[in-house]
Amino acid sequence: MSFSSRPHDFSDKRSAYGGLVRELAGLLAGEHDLIANAANTAALIFQALPQLNWAGFYFLRNGELVVGPFQGKPACVRIALGRGVCGTAAAERRTLVVPDVHAFPGHIACDEASRSEIVVPLVHGTALLGVLDLDSPVPGRFDAQDAAGLEALAAQFLAQLTTP
Ligand code: SME
Repeated sequence: MSFSSRPHDFSDKRSAYGGLVRELAGLLAGEHDLIANAANTAALIFQALPQLNWAGFYFLRNGELVVGPFQGKPACVRIALGRGVCGTAAAERRTLVVPDVHAFPGHIACDEASRSEIVVPLVHGTALLGVLDLDSPVPGRFDAQDAAGLEALAAQFLAQLTTP
């Protein structure tokens, strides 16, 4: 398995995310273990995307979100559905782009360096599996192209759980 840990050129986000989805497919090929694939997905995203201070997963366990594999500073372990950016994205099953975390009511501060955040829900078939969460120290770091690109990466991650 080869993996380039250099930051990617994100001046053309659409093309960069397309390349990253292909790289993720190669990285996860032949492996279906949830934790292993989540760990490598978080590492790939954290290494490739510029201006991040946290990237990782929360998985739904007995009705609440519990932290999974991630890169960044240690994080809050449990988040109730409907709480914070993660719990809200999970409860509403939609991607949330938060340009200013301090303006988001109920935002849960894990790393005080975080200024903006994006959370993509992971819906496998009809089941809510958890969320993919990225934080940035830069205000307004994430836009609609990041949302589309990260949704494509999340879809690749989910597809790999069942694809032979
Ligand atoms: N900020 C998130 C909590 C998770 S950390 O950012 C890793 C939230 O408000 O749900």
